[in-house]
Amino acid sequence: MIISIANEKGGVGKTTITFNLACGLVHLKPKSKVLCIDLDAQANLTNLLDNSNENAFSLYDWIKNDNLDFSEVVRQTTKPNVEIIASNLFSNDLHELMGKDISPATIFKEKLATIKQNYDYVLFDCPPFLDRRTTNALVCSDFAIVPVKGGDGFSISGLKRINEAIKDARRLNPSLALLGILKTMYNGKLVVSKELDKLLEREYPKMVFSNSIREATSLREALMMKQSIFEYDPNSNVEEDFRNFVNEVIQNG
Ligand SMILES: Nc1ncnc2c1ncn2[C@@H]1O[C@H](COP(=O)(O)OP(=O)(O)OP(=O)(O)O)[C@@H](O)[C@H]1O
Ligand SMILES: [Mg+2]
Repeated sequence: MIISIANEKGGVGKTTITFNLACGLVHLKPKSKVLCIDLDAQANLTNLLDNSNENAFSLYDWIKNDNLDFSEVVRQTTKPNVEIIASNLFSNDLHELMGKDISPATIFKEKLATIKQNYDYVLFDCPPFLDRRTTNALVCSDFAIVPVKGGDGFSISGLKRINEAIKDARRLNPSLALLGILKTMYNGKLVVSKELDKLLEREYPKMVFSNSIREATSLREALMMKQSIFEYDPNSNVEEDFRNFVNEVIQNG
């Protein structure tokens, strides 16, 4: 199953969710194998997970070079059963590379088709733009997860556009489904959060994950230590939020 974590808004928690979802899937569904694909030139996810040297091949090399075997591109990570195709600065050039031919027969989709059976889950961490990288990820995906930041009106404006992008991608990938909108950095006590809830209920009924991820300092600390919340603070409320969310993904995916 291939899932894109996408929203054109920056800083809404895409990378944090991708990282903890990958670790959570392996934690809650033992023996599952997860491949993360970092599409963002900032390489935040790569920095959280990567174990190997910086000169190793990246997604850009794999797409550009037909002679490069997948085994040379995929990297083991610090987390068992989680592998990554890393990003690097050249990922910005992917935008151009992928733009040459946006059709179901893109090189990207063909290449993915050759390896996806090796994994239970493939997760795309998308950049904060609706450019061709995000579009291609959506065209290759079974599902999209769209994080919105609790109490952030701007995130809502981003929602309209990502929804349009999902509709557009369906022309090439009719089975693409929205797995859910995920409220993150959420604080239910705030008036802005209650307003967000009302708005989501009105505009996006039944499209929101029943579990949200609260705002939590321990999650930031965990990221600094390059640990998932399952490792860093296993008995915390925010770990429970993630556990519930990951279980929703397992059940609905
Ligand atoms: N639930 C949370 N509670 C507190 N802090 C959080 C939470 N989720 C994410 N953060 C923090 O918010 C910041 C942005 O998160 P993240 O990098 O995951 O967003 P992003 O959408 O991937 O950003 P970008 O668009 O730049 O790729 C990070 O500093 C992260 O530590
Ligand atoms: Mg990110």
